[in-house]
This record gives sequence, structure tokens and C-alpha cells, in this order.
Amino acid sequence: MILEGKRALVTGGAVRIGKAITQALQAAGVEVVVHYRHSRGEAEALSDYAVCADLSSPDDCADLIRMAGSIDILINNASLFTKDRLAGSTPERVRREFQVNLFAPLELTRRFADQTNRGAVVNLLDRRIRANDPSCLPYAISKKGLEELTKLTALELAPGIRVNAVAPGPILPPPGDSGDGFAEMAGKVPLNLFPTPENIAEAALFLLQADYCTGQVIFVDGGQHLLGNGV
Ligand SMILES: NC(=O)c1ccc[n+]([C@@H]2O[C@H](COP(=O)([O-])OP(=O)(O)OC[C@H]3O[C@@H](n4cnc5c(N)ncnc54)[C@H](OP(=O)(O)O)[C@@H]3O)[C@@H](O)[C@H]2O)c1
Repeated sequence: MILEGKRALVTGGAVRIGKAITQALQAAGVEVVVHYRHSRGEAEALSDYAVCADLSSPDDCADLIRMAGSIDILINNASLFTKDRLAGSTPERVRREFQVNLFAPLELTRRFADQTNRGAVVNLLDRRIRANDPSCLPYAISKKGLEELTKLTALELAPGIRVNAVAPGPILPPPGDSGDGFAEMAGKVPLNLFPTPENIAEAALFLLQADYCTGQVIFVDGGQHLLGNGV
């Protein structure tokens, strides 16, 4: 896909990793519709096209694609990260995490494919899809599910729409976390390098332009996924 002149929707595209993806797309000549929930000021500062939706509401997911208008690219970046072990994984909390991290990307992809038969989707996963991390049980399952969704939709939507994914390692501490001790908490990184939000954006842009790739996952994690639970 030639990016210049295309139109993209980036969910959670106003801050952090989403912002880096928005800016990389804009630098490549893409008009970006920046979706936000709370970060309105940041979204409006980045783009003339800023749309608000609460992805924990199925109705908002449907409205979001309608409000975004015609798009060629969908980036499912918005996410909820809760540190719930099994004891805290009540049905309500699991449903909330699944809705934002898995059901919303599914519904947005379904609506996107309804609107067009040409384009590309990139889903944001997590290197934990190659580990079994019980410290964030609902999040881990939701991202493993999103990897499966990536493969299923890649097959279902070929040849017109490609669906790929980027799986980051430790990039930024969770929102609101001071970041003290982040490097220690992040654990072993074989390459001894922490990727940046810009590195995630580079991988996303590569996948958007790689007309021969679908159903692929690029790990941008300094090699952490190779260690599984040994991080
Ligand atoms: N940060 C890392 O080190 C890391 C590591 C592995 C994987 N990842 C993955 O990479 C992606 C980006 O990571 P990140 O850390 O930049 O994400 P993040 O800050 O945790 O979340 C990105 C945005 O998602 C939006 N969001 C959350 N709940 C929402 C809801 N109910 N409705 C609508 N929007 C909602 C928020 O937008 P508003 O600000 O507008 O409310 C938030 O700013 C995520 O998919 C994450 O799982 C990140």
C-alpha cells in the first residue's frame, strides 16, 4: 500500500504509542482520524479529525467507524491494562477488559470491512502473547485472543484487506505510573534495548506497506518474547 494520500483511524491515537503512530502516519502523508476517550486536547492538537468514543460501549464502536468516515487504514491501538490476578478477575472486570481490547477491535474491523473491500488493519498486541503471565490475567487473555483474531480476519478478509499486528515489549510504564523502577520490573531484554513508541510506529508502517504480508505479528520487544515466562 502506498501511504501517501490515504486516510487512517488510530484508536487511542492521541497519546503515548498511539500518538507516535499518528505522527508517523501523518509524516508519510496520511490523513489521520484520531480517536480518543479522555485525551481530547491532545487529539485535537494532532489532527483536524478527532473523534470521541468509549470503546467499552458496543454502540460507540459502531458509531466510531461511521464518524470516522471513509478510511483505508484501521489501527487498533486503544487498550485497557489492569493488573488483575485470578482472584480479582470477576466477570465484570474480565468483560470490561475484553470489550476494549478484543471485542472493540473485532467490531471495528467488521464495520471497516463492511465499508470497503480494500485496505489494511494493524492490531497492537503484547509480547506476553508468548508467555503465561498470571499477574494480568484478563489483559493477557484479551491480547492472546486478539492475536487469533488477527489471523482469522487476515484469512477472512483476503485478498482485499490485510490484517497484521505489532507486539510491543516494555515501552512505557502504565499511564499514571511514575516509571520508577520500570526497567527492573520489565525484566530481561536479550538485546538490552528498550524499544520506543517510534519503533512501534515504524513496525506498523512497515506492515501497512508490505503488500505481501497478512496475518503476521512483528515483536518489537528487544527479544523478550523468546524468553516466554523467563523474563
Ligand atoms: N506501553 C507499553 O509498554 C506496552 C507494552 C505492550 C503492549 N502495549 C500495547 O500497545 C498499545 C498502546 O500502548 P499504550 O501503553 O500507549 O496504551 P495506553 O496508554 O494504555 O492506552 C492507549 C489509549 O487507549 C484509550 N482507551 C483506554 N480505554 C478506552 C476506552 N474504554 N474507550 C476508548 N479508548 C480507550 C485511551 O485513550 P484516551 O487517553 O483518549 O482516554 C488511552 O490513552 C496497547 O494496545 C497496549 O496494550 C503497550
